[in-house]
Amino acid sequence: MTPADLDEIMEIERLSFLSPWEKTLFVQELKNPRTILRVVREKARVTGYLALYQVLDEIHLLSIAVHPDFRRKGTATGLLLETLSDCRRQGGKTLYLEVRENNHGAIAFYRRLSLVVAGVRPRYYQDTGENALLLAGEIENILKVLPP
Ligand SMILES: CC(C)(COP(=O)(O)OP(=O)(O)OC[C@H]1O[C@@H](n2cnc3c(N)ncnc32)[C@H](O)[C@@H]1OP(=O)(O)O)[C@@H](O)C(=O)NCCC(=O)NCCS
Repeated sequence: MTPADLDEIMEIERLSFLSPWEKTLFVQELKNPRTILRVVREKARVTGYLALYQVLDEIHLLSIAVHPDFRRKGTATGLLLETLSDCRRQGGKTLYLEVRENNHGAIAFYRRLSLVVAGVRPRYYQDTGENALLLAGEIENILKVLPP
C-alpha cells in the first residue's frame, strides 16, 4: 500500500464498515514500521487490502476488506494467507483479531480459516455498543487452508 492507493481504499472502507477508518489513520499506519499494509490489485484497480502488525510471535489483524463487487472470489483469503506466510518467516505463530459479533459474513470467513473464539470484549464498538469476539488461530493451521 502506498499513499497513492488511499482514495480507492477509502471508497472500499466506506462501502465495508459502519465506522470507516479516517484517511489520516492510514497515513499514520503507513509510517509505522510495525504495521504491514498490503493491497490487492486487479488490473490497475485496488480491490482489497489488509492492515496488521506483528509483535514477536503475535500477529494482530487490524483490518481487512474487499470491494463488494469483488467478494467471494478468494481475494481476502489469498491476501491473508500470503501475508501470514511472510509473517511466519519473521517468527509469527498466532493470529488475533476482533470482529463484531453480528458480522456473520466475516465470522464465516474466519471460521473457514480455522480461527476460533478466544474471548468476548463486551461493548467494544462505541458506535453500536456491540460486543467484539476475539478470534485466534495458529498460523501453521491457517496456512493449511486452501484458497476457495
Ligand atoms: C470478510 C471479507 C474481507 C471477505 O472477503 P472475500 O474476498 O469475499 O473472501 P473470500 O472470497 O476469500 O472468502 C473465502 C470463503 O470465506 C467464506 N465467506 C466469505 N465471505 C462470506 C460471507 N459474506 N458469508 C458467508 N461466508 C463467507 C466462504 O466460505 C468463502 O468461500 P466461498 O465463497 O467459496 O463460499 C469481505 O466480505 C469484506 O470486505 N467484508 C466487509 C469488511 C469486513 O467485515 N471485514 C472484516 C472485519 S473484522
